[in-house]
Amino acid sequence: MRLAKTMGAVAAGAALTLGLAACGGSGAGGGGGADGAAGNGDDDVKIGVAMPTQTYERWIQDGNNVKKGLEDLGYSVDLQFANDDIPTQTQQIDSMITEGVDVLVIASIDGTALTSQLDAAAAANIPVIAYDRLIRDSENVDFYTTFDNEAVGVAQANALLRGLGYLDADGKETGEKGPYNIELFAGSPDDNNAGFFFDGAMSVLQPLIDDGTIVVPSGQTDFGQVTTQRWELETAQKRMEDLLTSTYQGGEKLDGVLAPADVLSRGIINALQSAGMGPTLEKGLPVVTGQDAEIANIKLIDDGVQSSTIFKDTRLLAEQAVKATQSFVEGNDPEANDTKTYDNGVKVVPSYLLEVQTVFKDDIQPVLIDAGYYTADEVKAGQADD
Ligand code: BGC
Repeated sequence: MRLAKTMGAVAAGAALTLGLAACGGSGAGGGGGADGAAGNGDDDVKIGVAMPTQTYERWIQDGNNVKKGLEDLGYSVDLQFANDDIPTQTQQIDSMITEGVDVLVIASIDGTALTSQLDAAAAANIPVIAYDRLIRDSENVDFYTTFDNEAVGVAQANALLRGLGYLDADGKETGEKGPYNIELFAGSPDDNNAGFFFDGAMSVLQPLIDDGTIVVPSGQTDFGQVTTQRWELETAQKRMEDLLTSTYQGGEKLDGVLAPADVLSRGIINALQSAGMGPTLEKGLPVVTGQDAEIANIKLIDDGVQSSTIFKDTRLLAEQAVKATQSFVEGNDPEANDTKTYDNGVKVVPSYLLEVQTVFKDDIQPVLIDAGYYTADEVKAGQADD
């Protein structure tokens, strides 16, 4: 692997301190760090953490958890959120490289837009960890920490089928045969995860579409037709409104919606309720899935409005990212548990994948409250303290 950048910085720092021109230092030298101040150990290690946006609660949690974990190791952290704006994110990463960070942890907005930043990072010997979202089209992605993204899609489809009554809580067929009318939504097309989620879901749903158990009345079943640019709530809400107008005016019944993220689920539920459906599942609101276990959606699930979500414990993801960062700082390769799945178009990136859990109303207590992710009061309020 590439030399950890701290070693290069040590050499540069030593050369500066001694007033020497750089002349073939091997990188072997004690103490020192990114700031070139000798002898301060980890205090001098600085990590750049680039997160996409604060409009999804999860990214705020991700950013804060990664920052805290790194600070607990004695590193300093430059944490930036980019407001889902690609130029803002590229600029933030450029500055991190200029300020001499030792490792970059990046949750990209557009996974294909960072090639020149990653080239610059490689030239400066800065290892890059792709966080949750794979960075594509670059050989300079050194590691990837994420959840099993295909499994997320499979879990969403199975949760939809359970909500519809086709599967029971154990995943077995109930004997109900539908047919069920559903509509499909996918995430942002520039996010590598969106395709994994959708493909995972369709691996379950397509056979049922083929045999007529499931019908998609709009006919929109291709990824390109169902994506939601930048994962925006308003975009999903608008598409749901348009679908209701174009396809469901004639009394056609809508039974369920595959929604790939909780923020989008909220937009979709807004559209359904505004059209007079529900307002709860009991009162006929279509079954809507989700992802991320956002606190507002957990309240909706608790209130019998949203059917399910997929919980991805961002605390564990942050922990993995912190471990991988520490490995790079210490000059080692992080431990991977998947070296096959994530081809970014140039190479297969060694990855660490975490498992996910499906959450229906009955799972809120054991999965989220007992595990300390939310308190019962937060669930009731639909808002997290802190
Ligand atoms: C993440 C999801 C999140 C979505 C929107 C995806 O890359 O994996 O957890 O809901 O982005 O922010």
